[in-house]
Amino acid sequence: MTKTFLQDADLVPEEFAKRIPSDFTVGVSTSAFQIAGAVSEGGRTRSTWDTFMAQPGRISDKSTAKVAADHYHRYREDVDLIQKLGVDSYRLSVSWPRVQPGGKGAVNQEGIDFYDKLLDALLQAGVRPMVTIYHWETPEELQEQGGWLNRETAKRLGDFAEILGKAFGDRVDKWVTINEPTTVTLNGYGLGIHAPGEELLFDALPAAHNQLLGHGLAVQALRGVGVKGGIGITNVHSPVVPARGKFLDKYFATVFDLVHNRIFADPVLLGRYPKAPFGAGRVLKSLDDLDPDDLKIIHQPLDFYGMNYYMPTRIKAGSPKIGTTPDGETETIKQVPFSLEPFPEFAKTGFGWPVAPEYLAVALGDMAERYGDAMPPIYITEGGVSYPDARAASGHFHDERRIDYLAEHIAIVLNGAPGIDVKGYFVWSLIDNWEWAAGFSQRFGLVHVDFDSLERTPKDSYRWLQGVLAARKR
Ligand code: BGC
Repeated sequence: MTKTFLQDADLVPEEFAKRIPSDFTVGVSTSAFQIAGAVSEGGRTRSTWDTFMAQPGRISDKSTAKVAADHYHRYREDVDLIQKLGVDSYRLSVSWPRVQPGGKGAVNQEGIDFYDKLLDALLQAGVRPMVTIYHWETPEELQEQGGWLNRETAKRLGDFAEILGKAFGDRVDKWVTINEPTTVTLNGYGLGIHAPGEELLFDALPAAHNQLLGHGLAVQALRGVGVKGGIGITNVHSPVVPARGKFLDKYFATVFDLVHNRIFADPVLLGRYPKAPFGAGRVLKSLDDLDPDDLKIIHQPLDFYGMNYYMPTRIKAGSPKIGTTPDGETETIKQVPFSLEPFPEFAKTGFGWPVAPEYLAVALGDMAERYGDAMPPIYITEGGVSYPDARAASGHFHDERRIDYLAEHIAIVLNGAPGIDVKGYFVWSLIDNWEWAAGFSQRFGLVHVDFDSLERTPKDSYRWLQGVLAARKR
């Protein structure tokens, strides 16, 4: 039993559907590298993740995403699943090295053709495409020049956005410039859990700034070529709480909130970086010598703000004794002066993350309090859960816990938060995928994928959502 505030009767599809206003968007979300496969086909070149997954010890189950869910070849089947599910919108990402190999210069027409076909298939199916420009596939050639530590990469992202805007601007309903610059900065450049595997701790923060600059340039480029769709960015937000009432726990909770949440949202929404608490200036030091004009570029008016929510964070003063983080293992984390503590009061996901829908309400409340009128409408661009789903003797996947999870999180969003306009919820994810450093060990899909045969099998959660969407009054 993983429900905390809904009853079985609330989850009956016809009942749950009554909560959903007719203008609320329900969608599903994926990212290119996690599902596409075909990494060396169609003119695609290498990204930082191709390099990272080939290095020993990086991926917990030693797998690679070379085939992943083979979406590149099976996209029609996947669009069919999306259409039959009955969602309003599908969030996908574009593989940068597939469309612009090397991240600079000419486009690869085969890459453009693939996304042309995918977008057309979605529109024909009556599904509105939301397109993420950068979901972590940095072309390897840009990494050789420093990747996100080099501000040139921001300009390259702006150019790439212009290419996409020109090619697909007539068909994309919503654009997300960057997915979770937080995760790229902290996991990729701070702790080395994700590509490119740098372990710079707080010196990683220029990677945050350069991504945000890339966001601003991408917004300008999309508007410059007159795209039809709305434009936003997606950040992952985690409400941060101190483990105890102690001064130092509260202090480091504030610091963690800065580097996880605020340094990504404040410049985008308010045009300035937050101030570090007294004594913690060193943490934000690498952001001291910035060109103030950059903040003007970063602070673009947005049509929406994308928020991913998975879990809250609990902080305790004192260096961690073990190298476990929510996304993987690293010894480097033992150098930080605080640890991420468990939430024993909540059930756990397959990843060991706490199931805490109430903190989604806290996250929305924080947004209202911090950004007020500067906050555009929000879309929850990702929310979902991994469980080790097993096939029952009947052949079905009875993932009731995922149904409970989704119902409670969507219900929180539908209950609303004062001062916040949440316009939609995108489930992570449509199909089981390659889950970055966790490889194939974590399944987030509404649809099961057998990674040997690549067969897709809708789970009970797919059927539940399908029932809810069919019962909606439009
Ligand atoms: C990312 C996804 C990832 C999901 C679950 C988000 O941080 O955007 O790519 O699969 O979390 O870990």
